[in-house]
Amino acid sequence: MLPFLTSISRLRLIGPLFLCALLLLLATGSGETFADEPAPLVKVLVTYHSLSGNTERMAEAVVDGVKGVPGTETLLKRVGQVTADDLFSADAVVVGSPVYWSNMSGEVKTFFDNWQFKFGVFPEFKMKNKIGAAFATGGQVSSGKEVTMLTILAAMLGNQMIVVSGGGAFGASATTEGDSPGIDKKELADAKELGRRVAEVAMKMKRGSSR
Ligand SMILES: Cc1cc2nc3c(=O)[nH]c(=O)nc-3n(C[C@H](O)[C@H](O)[C@H](O)COP(=O)(O)O)c2cc1C
Repeated sequence: MLPFLTSISRLRLIGPLFLCALLLLLATGSGETFADEPAPLVKVLVTYHSLSGNTERMAEAVVDGVKGVPGTETLLKRVGQVTADDLFSADAVVVGSPVYWSNMSGEVKTFFDNWQFKFGVFPEFKMKNKIGAAFATGGQVSSGKEVTMLTILAAMLGNQMIVVSGGGAFGASATTEGDSPGIDKKELADAKELGRRVAEVAMKMKRGSSR
C-alpha cells in the first residue's frame, strides 16, 4: 500500500511541473527565445543632383519603388546635404545625376570625393558591402547617360560596394529634351523598378537569403 501511495504523490508533483514546461515551450515557439525581436529595417539612401527637376523626379520614383518593399526605410536627399550618419547608416545608396558633358555632374563627383575628404571612408573601406546603384537623366538620346551611370558605379566599386542594376542594364535613365521633354511614364517605371530591386537585394544581404 505504501509504495502505491508514494507513486501517486510523485505524480502529483511531477504532473504540474511537466505541464508548466510544456506551456513555456509552446509560448516561446521554438523554445530558443522568449519573444520574436522585430527584424531591423533596411535603410535605402536615395541621393541626387538636379537643377531643372528631371533627376529629382527620377529620384522620387526610385523612392516609390523602395517603399513598395515591406521592411524598408528611405531617405531622399540632395548630394550636398548627405551627412556621415546618412551614409554610414544606409544599407544601400542610390545615386542620380544629370549628364554633364557625357559624365556625372561636378556636384555628384564632389559628393563622391567627399566620401574621403568629409567622411574618411578610406583606408577602412567604410562603405564595403553596402548595395549601390545609379540613375541618370540626359538631354539627348545617346549622349552620356550610360557613361554617367557607369562612372557612378565605378566610384562605388572602388569603395568595395556591391552594385546592382534595375530598370536598365546599368540603372534607370531618362531622355529629357527633344520630341517629348521631361520624364515619361516608362522612364518613371524604370526608376521605380530600380528602387524595388535595390531594396530586395539589400534585404537579402541584411536578413539572409530566405526572403
Ligand atoms: C552643363 C551641362 C552639360 C550637359 N551635357 C549634356 C550631355 O553631355 N549630354 C546630354 O544628353 N545632356 C546634357 N545636358 C542636359 C542635361 O543632362 C539634362 O537636361 C538633364 O535632364 C538635366 O537634369 P536636371 O533637370 O535634373 O537638372 C547638359 C546640361 C548642362 C547644364
